[in-house]
Amino acid sequence: MEYRRLGNAGLKVSALSLGSWVTFGNQVDKKLAAECMAAAYDKGCNFFDNAETYARGESEELMGAALKQLSWDRDSYSVSSKAFFGRVSDPKPTQRGLSRKHLVEACDQALTRLQVEYLDLYYCHRPDPETPVEETVRAMNDLIQRGKVLYWGTSEWSKEELLAAHKVARQQHLIPPQMEQPQYNMFTRERCEVEYQELYALGMGTTIYSPLASGVLTGKYRDGIPDGSRLGVKGYEWLRDLLQSRDWESNLAKTEKLRSIAGDLGGSVAQLALAWCLVNPSISSVITGASRAAQVEENFTALDLLAKLTPDVLAAIEEILDNKPGAPGA
Ligand SMILES: NC(=O)c1ccc[n+]([C@@H]2O[C@H](COP(=O)([O-])OP(=O)(O)OC[C@H]3O[C@@H](n4cnc5c(N)ncnc54)[C@H](OP(=O)(O)O)[C@@H]3O)[C@@H](O)[C@H]2O)c1
Repeated sequence: MEYRRLGNAGLKVSALSLGSWVTFGNQVDKKLAAECMAAAYDKGCNFFDNAETYARGESEELMGAALKQLSWDRDSYSVSSKAFFGRVSDPKPTQRGLSRKHLVEACDQALTRLQVEYLDLYYCHRPDPETPVEETVRAMNDLIQRGKVLYWGTSEWSKEELLAAHKVARQQHLIPPQMEQPQYNMFTRERCEVEYQELYALGMGTTIYSPLASGVLTGKYRDGIPDGSRLGVKGYEWLRDLLQSRDWESNLAKTEKLRSIAGDLGGSVAQLALAWCLVNPSISSVITGASRAAQVEENFTALDLLAKLTPDVLAAIEEILDNKPGAPGA
């Protein structure tokens, strides 16, 4: 495993990590959660990602139970949560957003469900236009001062929103956001590759999500939606519709072309897609997802391909993707 600094912080996160969105509580039960986490940890994974909203808290409960069962040294891994969407399906006004009240209560609730004394990473899951950024920055700063959180960050905030948070933190001598969690994969590139450049200069790291575009970049959807795969999971029809409404055929065709490059390098297209994310030095950790332990085994050997991504190979990939941000027609 390779370990990367979380931006300019001292914390080192594994280049590949494991998250629980969609899977824990929907496709993955307590036993399988522990199996997947153990398979990842055995390959050097030291960061496990979660959120209050995943399976309405059940995802954190399963991860907490697995952490207890596996009883790894607490100082050998990092675990996260995120607040914004709320835990319940129809949250009351105080049960969602980035107010001091919700951030503090959601943190305490996540600690209980995860059965840990502090969150290593705590994210504002989306920006909240109805809370002054100063209130959010101060609440996160205070959670750090109280020892409940070690690093705080954001997910899918714009560059402008993050610059505003940094400015407030600088002016008020508060701790600024340390990491952002955006989507990044071969089909979604702009934010990480262009928009966030100024933030990297401020020392922010990134823990990116959906590196396989929810599984599309495994090639599994070539002949339809296989049984037991994400795009067939009940309650996630919106995700299937979203993916199928955005360049679906073209993305499937690109995936097939990438499959032959992966084969030439001795890997799978999933491994190629994961390794490709890690070529970007601004990425601290690629958060993977898995509905079974065999996927973890496959995904966590993606690092073997990284050294094989020579400039020629990357150019061949670029030609297939044909979506380099800033390039004519992209
Ligand atoms: N901050 C945010 O807003 C946000 C949003 C999304 C995700 N995340 C975080 O990022 C993590 C990863 O995102 P993601 O789950 O969307 O990642 P992903 O890598 O794009 O998709 C993971 C899914 O792809 C399929 N898959 C993975 N490896 C495979 C393999 N080797 N062969 C075949 N199928 C494979 C599995 O689904 P099936 O087996 O069901 O097909 C798996 O659950 C999440 O768990 C969560 O922690 C954060």
